[in-house]
Amino acid sequence: MQLPVWGAVAFLVLIAASAALNPALEAAWHGWKRFHAKEYPEEAEAFRRLVWEKNLRKIQHHNLEASRGKHSYRLDMNHLGDMTDEEYNRLANGFRPDAAAKLRGGDAAVFWGSPSMDTPKAVDWRQKGYVTPVKNQGRCGSCWAFSATGALEGLVFNKTGKLVALSEQNLMDCSRKLGNDGCHGGYITKSFEYVRDNKGLNSELRYPYLEKDESTCYFNPQDRAANCTALQKVQWGNETVLEQAVATVGPISVAVDAQSFQFRFYKSGVFADSNCGHMVNHAMLAVGYGTAQENGKSVNYWIIKNSWSESWGEQGYFRLLKGVDNHCGIANQASFPTL
Ligand SMILES: *[C@@H]1O[C@H](CO)[C@@H](O)[C@H](O)[C@H]1NC(C)=O
Ligand SMILES: *[C@@H]1O[C@H](CO)[C@@H](O)[C@H](O)[C@H]1NC(C)=O
Ligand SMILES: *[C@@H]1O[C@H](CO)[C@@H](O)[C@H](O)[C@H]1NC(C)=O
Repeated sequence: MQLPVWGAVAFLVLIAASAALNPALEAAWHGWKRFHAKEYPEEAEAFRRLVWEKNLRKIQHHNLEASRGKHSYRLDMNHLGDMTDEEYNRLANGFRPDAAAKLRGGDAAVFWGSPSMDTPKAVDWRQKGYVTPVKNQGRCGSCWAFSATGALEGLVFNKTGKLVALSEQNLMDCSRKLGNDGCHGGYITKSFEYVRDNKGLNSELRYPYLEKDESTCYFNPQDRAANCTALQKVQWGNETVLEQAVATVGPISVAVDAQSFQFRFYKSGVFADSNCGHMVNHAMLAVGYGTAQENGKSVNYWIIKNSWSESWGEQGYFRLLKGVDNHCGIANQASFPTL
């Protein structure tokens, strides 16, 4: 029975030795902790450090391959670096697919697009004032609420000319009856239904984000900052139709498969990964699209706003390969509110 104890001692000695042998790594760890304001109870630090180091090595390996031309995008260590794959999957699995999306949109109107519609070559709603600064959902599976407020913020801007950050916590606390489950996941479409039935949503300022589940709804009807009267689902699985929606409506709520290590540590470039599937689990906001030149070739991409702070990706944004096989399921769960 002494063995586990000795095992633990050996393990700690090993860690101490590896830290002493590699002062650069030691400094990087402390720098990363300071930058992201990470503090651990003493007994947890060794484990977190091991997780972080393992992730760091995989990131460096990917970037080495990228510099040899094997990948179109780069990775970087970020605030998610101390999470195990299991912990990450809990965070990144906050989106619940609307089962009716494939059934011609269920009871909601469907945006079918049109075979003859002309769309601009590039669209970026950020430049038109439709998009609030990048937010941070923290350690809470509330991506669905952030995606929904993003689309509503665009709608409000279109109607009023005013950009107002809207309340995710309002959606999390008050739309439970519709099937949403706060930090444990929810539906974008049910968020729009809540705002429609509730006849409004409060602002972020008046109903701040708490990064946790609350049992009470604090919606104040005197303080409505947004409205919607209906929602539309974008025809399932067709990127051409999604492009038409983004070009003509404004920012559109979407979901993608975000399970991979590569997505978690995405830093820059146009994301294209053969492991990215069509089972979507993370909600975000499509705010435009464009074309990049890569090794003399044109590559089309979506511009997608995430809710993992500006330190993730390209200042909080994600560029995803567009127009090739509905990559990462981008067109599978797109929807938007209307007024
Ligand atoms: C996608 O939608 C476009 C525009 O309506 C249409 O022309 C095209 O045939 C659709 N593609 C598929 C595979 O349904
Ligand atoms: C709102 O959208 C309509 C078309 O959808 C557009 O004509 C109008 O200029 C937009 N308003 C603003 C403030 O961008
Ligand atoms: C919400 O809609 C009502 C009309 O249905 C309108 O009077 C009100 O100004 C709207 N509020 C906002 C914040 O858009």
